[in-house]
Amino acid sequence: MESSRLLVEGGRRLTGEIRVHGAKNSVLPILAATLLCGNISVVHNSASLSDAFAAMRILRSLGCEISHEGSTVTVNSADANGDTVSDGLMHEMRSSIVFLGAILGRVGHCRLSFPGGCELGPRPIDLHLEALRRLGVRITVDHGILDCTAGVRPANADITLSLPSVGATENIMLYSALGAGETVIRNAAREPEIADLAGYLTKCGAEISGQGTSTLVINGVPELHGCEYSVMPDRIEAATYMGAAAVTHGELMLKGVRPSDMYSCMSVFSEMGCGVYPYDDKIFISARKPITAVRTIRTMPYPGFPTDCQPIVMAALSKSAGTSVIVENIFENRFMAAPELRRMGANIKAEGKVAVIEGVKSLCGAKVRAFDLRAGAALVVAALGAEGQSEISNVHYIDRGYESIETALSSVGADIRRI
Ligand code: EPZ
Repeated sequence: MESSRLLVEGGRRLTGEIRVHGAKNSVLPILAATLLCGNISVVHNSASLSDAFAAMRILRSLGCEISHEGSTVTVNSADANGDTVSDGLMHEMRSSIVFLGAILGRVGHCRLSFPGGCELGPRPIDLHLEALRRLGVRITVDHGILDCTAGVRPANADITLSLPSVGATENIMLYSALGAGETVIRNAAREPEIADLAGYLTKCGAEISGQGTSTLVINGVPELHGCEYSVMPDRIEAATYMGAAAVTHGELMLKGVRPSDMYSCMSVFSEMGCGVYPYDDKIFISARKPITAVRTIRTMPYPGFPTDCQPIVMAALSKSAGTSVIVENIFENRFMAAPELRRMGANIKAEGKVAVIEGVKSLCGAKVRAFDLRAGAALVVAALGAEGQSEISNVHYIDRGYESIETALSSVGADIRRI
């Protein structure tokens, strides 16, 4: 499908305020979790993202009734008895794998196709499957189809993840919330989105402790009821707008954010020479002068520097004084923005998991293509700070994680429009 394109006239300082939406990476597992309740849940602050709409299509296909009004989604999962996620839906959004734990928890059986690899490289789910097997789930794989059946669940399961996988942690939580048995997850992911999912499940009656730490304890309960819940702010969207302020020497007040989720991001922007001032639910960033290079940025599991912000910071550092080094430790192929940024005059050498960025004085607008969600957002950031016009295609990637990115940026002075 020929997706729309964004036309950006760069070189304008951004000033003003932007309200940040609810987190994509929190609303997806929370929507999956509504399956477990068997009645009505009302989820607020759910951004209008194509990934969220895909999750709603999956819930409908499983028998849920869904309505959404603005940023509020109402899910009634009383009659949900489906156990299959269609191939199309699985390929539309690989993070649909998080429905596996919820469907198994609700109906005890699930069939779905292996999530396709994605632009970031192969996205294995070995940790998800290993953990579910430890919880008594029988899993067969045949021609790329996963067929899973809940078996006798151990009274006490103690699972240690070899790496703090966000998705695997979520799937174990979703499967363990209902039923009898205590599940301990060690080396669990500590991303704020995990605590948000635990917040929703706890409000529905689940018994979960340890959120925010790397050891979670889930005590299965016989029943969960729906609840009303508001999704946490999207820290990656907030960081994207910080990149836009940095690269246009602008000043932005970001509202509806949670600074306590963003220390590693805020410190990198401070190191670039931006003034970063967090308040209770706001961050003010001022980038009055050209940004300076950052010695070394290493992406790490939370609370380290998030891999999702890496392409955005690469774009901002492309136009800076000095040489920066980025080490991408989480995904194998997450420098997709580099070749497109080079077309705009950036001087980036990416080799394996290391990228060296020699800052240039100015970038020039160009025709560029988004290859994945955050690389696409990086191109928007670079285009805003480039001289002249840029045309960004494959905007559907960007729409997966940003609700009308052009609206937010236009509201603070950017010359950006969708064609
Ligand atoms: C979540 O992906 C996010 N997606 C990603 O955001 C984010 O980049 C990632 O966490 C890391 O923070 C959602 O929440 C929907 P992982 P997830 O399991 O769960 C390897 C965005 O742009 N791994 O923590 O897939 C994996 O290959 C997206 O919003 C295994 O080897 O991340 C990767 O290298 C992109 N085996 C690393 O762990 C497994 O079984 C981190 O993956 C699972 C993961």
